[in-house]
Amino acid sequence: MMLLLWKVCFLGILAPEIFCQKVKYDGEQVLQVSPQTSEHVFQLQQLCDTWLLDLWKPHLSEDIRVGADIHVRVPASLVQKMKEKLLQYSIPFQVLIKDIQELMDNQNIKSHSRHGRSLATYNYAVYHQMGEIYKWMTLIEKEYSHLVTQHYLGETYELRPIFYLKIGQPSDRPKKIIWMDCGIHAREWIAPAYCQWFVKEILQNYNSDQNIKKILQNIDFYIVPVLNIDGYIYSWTTDRLWRKSRASYNNGTCYGTDLNRNFNAMWCSIGASNNCSSLTFCGTGPESEPETKAVVNLVESQKSDILCFLTIHSYGQLILQPYGYTKNQSRNHEEMIKVAEIAAAAIQKKYGTVYRVGSASHILYSNSGSSRDWAADLGLNFSYTFELRDNGTYGFQLPEDQIQPTCEETMAGMMTIIDYINEKNFKNNAMTIISATLWINILFSITCSIAYTLWY
Ligand SMILES: *[C@@H]1O[C@H](CO)[C@@H](O)[C@H](O)[C@H]1NC(C)=O
Ligand SMILES: *[C@@H]1O[C@H](CO)[C@@H](O)[C@H](O)[C@H]1NC(C)=O
Ligand SMILES: *[C@@H]1O[C@H](CO)[C@@H](O)[C@H](O)[C@H]1NC(C)=O
Ligand SMILES: *[C@@H]1O[C@H](CO)[C@@H](O)[C@H](O)[C@H]1NC(C)=O
Ligand SMILES: *[C@@H]1O[C@H](CO)[C@@H](O)[C@H](O)[C@H]1NC(C)=O
Repeated sequence: MMLLLWKVCFLGILAPEIFCQKVKYDGEQVLQVSPQTSEHVFQLQQLCDTWLLDLWKPHLSEDIRVGADIHVRVPASLVQKMKEKLLQYSIPFQVLIKDIQELMDNQNIKSHSRHGRSLATYNYAVYHQMGEIYKWMTLIEKEYSHLVTQHYLGETYELRPIFYLKIGQPSDRPKKIIWMDCGIHAREWIAPAYCQWFVKEILQNYNSDQNIKKILQNIDFYIVPVLNIDGYIYSWTTDRLWRKSRASYNNGTCYGTDLNRNFNAMWCSIGASNNCSSLTFCGTGPESEPETKAVVNLVESQKSDILCFLTIHSYGQLILQPYGYTKNQSRNHEEMIKVAEIAAAAIQKKYGTVYRVGSASHILYSNSGSSRDWAADLGLNFSYTFELRDNGTYGFQLPEDQIQPTCEETMAGMMTIIDYINEKNFKNNAMTIISATLWINILFSITCSIAYTLWY
């Protein structure tokens, strides 16, 4: 342990701009395994449970299904044994990531704090640590004071302030709200990067883009760039693959709640764990965590004005709608599917990235306590989870050179949702133009889906 810390500190002295996390993943692999029979499923569940493997897809061994590939992280000491077992059971597999640590080291993530003193030099195509993001929020508020205010949402377990940016054109008329939070799961770094990108795009294009101008007359965006701040910081300093918050349990024997299992939506009934060691630990009760409570307090107090609740994650390339905790459909299931399909088509049109659309319980696996489902139960008509790139090649370690294309395509998709909601609520005369574009996108999407299905 001492040696490990010494090594990290030593590296830190030599190259202070390079981040060295204390938890190392040397020789660890991510395997993609394809169970073909129910026997395979049982064997895989046994392996995952006895060796306590970190499942990346799905998150719980009980959600392993025939015909659905799983992604699982295997410690170096078990890689050989795992592969022997899979061969013995004749379960097809391939190596997705052949050395997690090597991938982390090659990514060469740097601190940008010294270059982040002004907005003009802020680089949106790299990952930023929390200190930089706090500073960035202040700079944004200052630079765009006619459109942006920064507000206190609440505080984290470790007592850090959580802020959101309110972006809109001040108006005497009553306005509506679109909510977006990023970074509820610490290791999903592309999510906070996207929130920042979104803010930049909206503000930089405000003057030249009549559509954005119109939207900001009607709607205020409430953007939380990083919700799980404690976890995000921990993923920079200590463990790149940390997912949960940093709350301490059982006298410090285990840490962290999965904040997206902590909301009051059939809390901890399915796809979540009661064990604080688990990656999907649901907390000690619904809304037990201060980060969750902060979201709940604000959203509940303004629920009649919130038109849409968006929460940004990675990975998997999905747009998910309620529900995850039941196969039941939300009130406006068909409309939500239609709107998400248009968004997926717009995403694909940009760089060809294929997104799937549907309810979590149908196209992914069931889970309870998510903010998306809670928002739908609260009565919000539109509530989506975006799972951004990629589909497994890099997993949570999406390379920085994919930040820009990922954000561009997500922006293109998300704008179709925002346009739809704006038109629906404010019936601007641009309606017909937009719906024509939407229909072209739908046709494109259907053609592509058919081509995709036939091909595979
Ligand atoms: C908690 O941990 C501390 C230090 O490890 C120990 O002294 C204390 O007895 C523990 N308390 C309980 C209730 O287990
Ligand atoms: C919780 O999980 C840990 C590790 O996965 C395990 O060692 C422990 O026995 C579990 N505790 C309970 C109460 O099931
Ligand atoms: C949700 O949709 C219904 C039916 O269209 C509408 O009556 C209701 O006002 C909407 N709720 C919100 C919060 O916009
Ligand atoms: C699903 O719908 C049925 C019929 O409306 C209802 O009785 C049941 O409580 C719903 N289940 C959940 C989990 O909401
Ligand atoms: C991810 O998608 C690409 C293209 O859409 C495909 O070639 C690749 O095999 C997929 N990878 C996984 C792990 O599904």
